[in-house]
Amino acid sequence: MNKKLCISVLASSLLCSNVTTASEINLPKPDISSPLMQIIDTRTTIRNISAKPISPETLSNILWSAFGTNSHNTRTIATGKNEQDLKIFVIWDKKVWLYDGINNKLNLYSETDLMPYLAKQDFVNIAPVHLIYAGGKHNAQAHSGSSYQNVYLYAAEQGLATVIRGYFDAEGVTKALNLPENEIVTYHQVIGYPDK
Ligand SMILES: Cc1cc2nc3c(=O)[nH]c(=O)nc-3n(C[C@H](O)[C@H](O)[C@H](O)COP(=O)(O)O)c2cc1C
Repeated sequence: MNKKLCISVLASSLLCSNVTTASEINLPKPDISSPLMQIIDTRTTIRNISAKPISPETLSNILWSAFGTNSHNTRTIATGKNEQDLKIFVIWDKKVWLYDGINNKLNLYSETDLMPYLAKQDFVNIAPVHLIYAGGKHNAQAHSGSSYQNVYLYAAEQGLATVIRGYFDAEGVTKALNLPENEIVTYHQVIGYPDK
């Protein structure tokens, strides 16, 4: 072994032994000065939502962050086996639309009123945009989590208010949306402008 290699092996083994014997490690202070870290820092749930409408442009941005096609020609979230099998239903203008993130479109899915299954908290009836996450049972929870977090970050950056919700009748929504047997509804997310 040459001298340089010996020194680096010795240094890394010393470092490793320090790590393995310590019972706690004080980490360096996180550097949250970058734009992304600043947005993560301000991410929060805001339930005080106004009825002020969301424009189609803003809705498009919200949905792109949630599950759009990015410049690598994949999606804005990772999906198991790259199956891209997350579904996002959008309640917009009192109708239910299914987001097509490949063609950047909303396809009319249903005119069923889903509010009776969703509105267990007052702000739900007020919020102008609702996203309902669904997908194959195996990964739907993970995919929804990635997606709603992106929406939270977009909302934080744009000064929008959002709440991810598990407190609703997911089974009722699954039935009302007539989803295939292998798919489930996971979460409901409301988005709007904060009521100041
Ligand atoms: C899986 C999940 C389900 C949630 N369900 C609801 C809900 O039904 N209603 C609600 O008002 N907030 C809900 N929340 C929001 C949490 O209450 C909120 O994230 C938590 O209080 C922390 O606040 P923060 O998001 O501002 O950090 C949910 C959050 C998660 C992650």
